[in-house]
Amino acid sequence: VADGKQGFEHFMLKEIYEQGDVIERILNHYLDINGRQLNTGLQPGQSAAIEALNIVACGTSYYAACTARYWLESIAGIPTDTDLASEFRYRNRPMSSHTSNLFISQSGETADTLAALRYAKAIGCPCLSMNNVPTSTMALESDTILPTLAGPEIGVASTKAFMAQLTVLLLLSIDCARHNGSMDFDQELSLIKALHELPSLFHRQLLTQEPIIRLAQMMATSDHALFIGRGQAWPLAQEGALKLKEISYIHAEAYAAGELKHGPIALVDEQMPVVVIAPPDELQPKTLSNLREVASRGGKIILIADSQAIEASSEFITAAIPMPQVDPVLFPLLYTLPLQLLAYHVAKEKGLDIDKPRNLAKSVTVE
Ligand code: G6P
Repeated sequence: VADGKQGFEHFMLKEIYEQGDVIERILNHYLDINGRQLNTGLQPGQSAAIEALNIVACGTSYYAACTARYWLESIAGIPTDTDLASEFRYRNRPMSSHTSNLFISQSGETADTLAALRYAKAIGCPCLSMNNVPTSTMALESDTILPTLAGPEIGVASTKAFMAQLTVLLLLSIDCARHNGSMDFDQELSLIKALHELPSLFHRQLLTQEPIIRLAQMMATSDHALFIGRGQAWPLAQEGALKLKEISYIHAEAYAAGELKHGPIALVDEQMPVVVIAPPDELQPKTLSNLREVASRGGKIILIADSQAIEASSEFITAAIPMPQVDPVLFPLLYTLPLQLLAYHVAKEKGLDIDKPRNLAKSVTVE
């Protein structure tokens, strides 16, 4: 089709649908024929040499960094800092030529992230970058590049590039874990197998968008929304809120679920939709207890969780998006999809310019 949307109404929806293929492409690129990792782009010994990592990025790429921090710390035992690129250079973080830095940028041209990269290089730090555009300035100026291989992303609100960043960050975490001896061969193989199965789970979820569309019709009339989650569901909540505000212009805020009582719960009334992201991990009971606190203040709860948790919370919730079971390490990838679809369908319901939201640019080249 001449406009490149291949029959989809918007580039954003096309790019959401491409995410399963993107994951497969990344696995084919980064894994060897035995399913073991061969090529993370790091030199032999380089992943073993990462003792601590700073990850620096903006926007959606920053939320990929915040999500990956949990993998790097819990799977690979690597203490990880995350910084917004626009802040990184100004906090005078003590750094030496041994401090490893990773700069994440879909475009590879974001002014703040590029300036942060140049700042770290000037100190003599090893600089890795994760980019989707192989010819970008950041790719050219970095010591090592981890390509995200998502293909050109046209929708201003990032979707498949975020999924690609998460996938490569998980592979990087697994690679570091292998070198550190913190993950055994069986665990590694089982994770890789689960990653291979994700595209078919995505496919199934894309076939059952009805509950999300109904939910979007309800949310489209709201002026505000809250997103909450714990652990890795917290940066996902932030990304979900960002997606919603970017394209639907609904004021959306994300909170770590445990922080709710420290202020934002005062905002909750019958008009406030609260999206609760609660994958079945060890934190789920705590998140579900926060859900009940919100429900008792009259908030309209939208629960994204496994069917069991949805059933157990049925008397407190207004709507739910049931999610299939998957290895808990992969929750961030799986739970991203309904958040993207929710934002998309709300913006569509409101008749907005989804691929080119007002005031936003695909790549921000001024600081
Ligand atoms: C802009 C885009 C966002 C993107 C951010 C960072 O704000 O609208 O979608 O996440 O820049 O872009 P980058 O190319 O550095 O990932």
